[in-house]
Amino acid sequence: MKIFLDTANLDEIREGMSFGVIDGITTNPTLVAKEKKPFREHLIEICNIVKNGEISAEVVSTDTAGILREAREIATWHPNIIVKLPTIPDGVRALSILSKENIRVNMTLVFSSPQALLVAKAGAYFVSPFLGRLDDISADGLTVLREIMDIYQAYKYPTQVLAASLRHPLHVVAAARMGAHIGTMPYKVFEMLFKHPLTDKGLEGFQKDWEKAREAMGDIFLPAAARTQAR
Ligand code: E4P
Repeated sequence: MKIFLDTANLDEIREGMSFGVIDGITTNPTLVAKEKKPFREHLIEICNIVKNGEISAEVVSTDTAGILREAREIATWHPNIIVKLPTIPDGVRALSILSKENIRVNMTLVFSSPQALLVAKAGAYFVSPFLGRLDDISADGLTVLREIMDIYQAYKYPTQVLAASLRHPLHVVAAARMGAHIGTMPYKVFEMLFKHPLTDKGLEGFQKDWEKAREAMGDIFLPAAARTQAR
C-alpha cells in the first residue's frame, strides 16, 4: 500500500520524506488555509520536496464551469499534481469531462459505495472514501471501504482507492488488509505506525546490557579520533 501524508505543512512533509516510505501528499482547502501561503507557490514547493510522488490539490468552486476552470488551471502547475474535486453532481459532471482530457482527478468527500461507483464510471484516477468522518457519526467507514473494494474488483475499475480520513493505526492496517491502493493520514498517525512499547523496552535493555560490558568488548563504534584518544 502506498502511504500518503495528509498535510500541507512543509516541515511535516520534509520530515516524513526523510524516512523514504512516503509516496505522496493529499491536501484540502482546510489544510492549505492553515499554512497561510500563496496556494500555487505552496503546492509547487510541496511537489519539489516530494519529487516523484503524487500531490492532490483541491478546487474550491462547486459549479461545473468553476470546477473545470480551476481544475484545468491547477493541472498546469506541476506534472505530479492530481486535481481533487468534491463528489457532488457538478463535480462528477466535471470529472467526466476532465478524465477525457487526461487530467488525473481525485474524487474526495466520498462517504458511500454508490458515490464510488459513479466516480469510477466517470474516470476518476483516485477515489477518496473518508473512514474517520464516517466513524465520527457512528457509521462504519471500514464497511464502506469493503463495499468499494468489492465493486471495483468485480468490474476491474482502474480507479485507485485512496483510504482517507484515517485516524489511527488500526484504520491503516484494515485498509492495507483490504488491498486499498493508498492510505493517507495526518503526520501524527504516521508517527504512531513506528511505535511499539516492546520495541522501546527491548532497545533500552540492549543498551543497558551493552554499557555494562562495554570495556570488555572494545570501542569499535567510537569514531577513529576518539578511539585513539581513549587509548
Ligand atoms: C483526504 O484527502 C482528506 O484531506 C482527509 O483525509 C480528511 O481527513 P480528516 O477527516 O481527518 O479531516
